[in-house]
Amino acid sequence: MQPRAIAENIYWVGLNDRQTELFEGLWPIKQSGVSLNSYLILDKKNALIDLSSDLMSERYIHMLEQLIDLAKIDYIVLNHLEPDHTGALLEINRMAPNAIFLGTAKAREIVANFYDLKEKFRIVADGEEISLGSRTLKFAAIPFVHWPETMVTYAMEDQILFSCDAFGGYGSLPGVIFDDQCPDMPYMEKEALRYYANIVAAHSSHTKKAIEKLANVPIKMIAPSHGLIWRKEPGRILSLYNKWADYANGNREKAVTLAFGSMYGNTRQYAEVVMQAVAEQGLSVEVFDINTVHISYILPSMWKNQGIILCAPTYEGSLFPIMSNVMNMAKIKKITNRTTAYFGSYAWGSMAKKQFETYCAEQNWTVIENLQFFGKPKEPEFSVIPDFAKRFAEAVRNAA
Ligand code: FEO
Repeated sequence: MQPRAIAENIYWVGLNDRQTELFEGLWPIKQSGVSLNSYLILDKKNALIDLSSDLMSERYIHMLEQLIDLAKIDYIVLNHLEPDHTGALLEINRMAPNAIFLGTAKAREIVANFYDLKEKFRIVADGEEISLGSRTLKFAAIPFVHWPETMVTYAMEDQILFSCDAFGGYGSLPGVIFDDQCPDMPYMEKEALRYYANIVAAHSSHTKKAIEKLANVPIKMIAPSHGLIWRKEPGRILSLYNKWADYANGNREKAVTLAFGSMYGNTRQYAEVVMQAVAEQGLSVEVFDINTVHISYILPSMWKNQGIILCAPTYEGSLFPIMSNVMNMAKIKKITNRTTAYFGSYAWGSMAKKQFETYCAEQNWTVIENLQFFGKPKEPEFSVIPDFAKRFAEAVRNAA
């Protein structure tokens, strides 16, 4: 894509990353892609806000050179130091010798360690303003959205918030950059939720604080460093992030995530019957086969839903390893206080049930059922499902 003006003398200089298989080395983005948005403000002093990854530096520099001689850049604002936004830093620094980097005190520490950049860095305080000439930039620290050094930059006269990771999402930009131009907003919002669950969810309390901090700031446009620029409805992405952050504290959807894995079909067969019984209780059930679906796609469902049913066999005396990964990721992402149940087949070792109990105690998950069956499930095991479904649905509906 080519640079695009988002306001007078303010340009989007972003790129779609369609090359990276796994974002952060963990999360699949090959199908959806992700945009790395950077912004250039031309004024008496020229400012570049956030950069790009090392993979994209050549194309990124080519975009910038269409707008400016890089030697004329005065400020490079580093809202966040993760390398998807700073991988191109050393190359840009070489080509922009007159630029001073701006960021928080923590950003200075990180940039020194990641890039050995100790000079040319000016710490900006929370609330500090810098004049570019006809425009003023104001900085606000929003620690842990997504790293401890993170801040946002606000173009005061234009009322544009450059929010970096905050209010961002997966999904390449479809030839357009604004929400009002996007042909498939449901897809972009779904990918934004996947991004939130994968990247931001564990920092939801900080996300709430950031949203509260920005509550009285007049915002005409939210320009994140991933995903669409919210020009028509900036309040939409703010309210979505607010709702997703709130799931950390309750008020989750009265719905169910059913994740199952199977080796020879016994646990899958049981999971199908559980799924049907719970759905017949009037709860919406989102079903994931963990043998084939990556945890990246399961986490958004686990994040928003109150009910979580896990079905997996015992493997070598332990819980099925793929399910252990699902549960470990849920722990890392601080998915706590859920209503849950476990079902699975075993052959000779049956530690899975105990492991599930231990995990639920740590995560404060309320266990409605924890049932193992030897080999193929039989009538006694199937017979308990209707009563379980009733108790489970009631517990999900009554959860805070
Ligand atoms: Fe887009 Fe936390 O980096």
